[in-house]
Amino acid sequence: MAEAKLSVMTNFLHYGTGVFEGIRGNWNEERKQTYIFRLKEHYERLIKGCKVLKITLPHTVDQFCQLTVELVAKNGLKEDLYIRPLAYKCTEALGVRCHGLEDGFFMFVIPWGPYLNVEKVKCGVSSWRRPGNNVMPAQTKITGQYINSALAKTEAYENGFDEAILLTEEGYVSEGSGENIFLVIDGSLVTPPIYNSILPGITRDTVIKLAKDEMGIDVIERQIDRTELYMANEAFFTGTATHIAPIGEIDHRPVGNGEIGSITAKLQKIYTDVIRGISPKYISWCTPVYK
Ligand SMILES: Cc1ncc(COP(=O)(O)O)c(C=O)c1O
Repeated sequence: MAEAKLSVMTNFLHYGTGVFEGIRGNWNEERKQTYIFRLKEHYERLIKGCKVLKITLPHTVDQFCQLTVELVAKNGLKEDLYIRPLAYKCTEALGVRCHGLEDGFFMFVIPWGPYLNVEKVKCGVSSWRRPGNNVMPAQTKITGQYINSALAKTEAYENGFDEAILLTEEGYVSEGSGENIFLVIDGSLVTPPIYNSILPGITRDTVIKLAKDEMGIDVIERQIDRTELYMANEAFFTGTATHIAPIGEIDHRPVGNGEIGSITAKLQKIYTDVIRGISPKYISWCTPVYK
């Protein structure tokens, strides 16, 4: 990192013309192994975002996966880590556009523990709305649109919360500043649909599969009213950085009885085993780093 050089005129620095991913390597102490979780899916999503921004990537998904394993292995980290690939408009040129600019790519890896480092997350509904799909490509991790997340997060923090819950422009529940959201309502899992301006989370997809296949729970993707946040039996966030984070209160109202709910706790346990390569059934989601 000390040797990396990025010009102050790099286009993406000024206009947010980059697409990134956040990928986790999870350390398994018993096996002295790092498992990178759903690596391929992260690069597939990166490529989709690059199409939107007209960025041509220098490698295929398989090549990116190999490079990522190599990067982590070379760093030799023996703890939970986070990998940040970023594709961007690298031309040293001012002028807001996506066309006629060259593309660059970098990635780095850092040690990183849980993102929302609290047992139960305190949330506030944000005054900032999640932009609709005709304002911003909400289904991508394009760097520029994270100003929306940053504003919501800081507002929540300054109001004494750990995290924000953003609504869509129409007022339906969308997601956290860097997480998808699930509610438990009458024994079913309910989560906002893709068309409610969410990022299609890889952890969200994982949780939907695990809830159905390992717990036999119904998962309903539907529009959620703000009031339902206050009436849900349980609530939790999902995200690569966050894993599964139980929500303890929303707008100063306890979620359920304010304790971590039984469905949330069970999903957390299953998910933790899956990402550390402990569940044989899901080992294909885990890429080992060390030989
Ligand atoms: C805005 C936003 N929503 C949701 C998520 C969760 O997505 P994933 O589970 O793929 O990390 C993230 C994190 O990547 C995010 O930045």
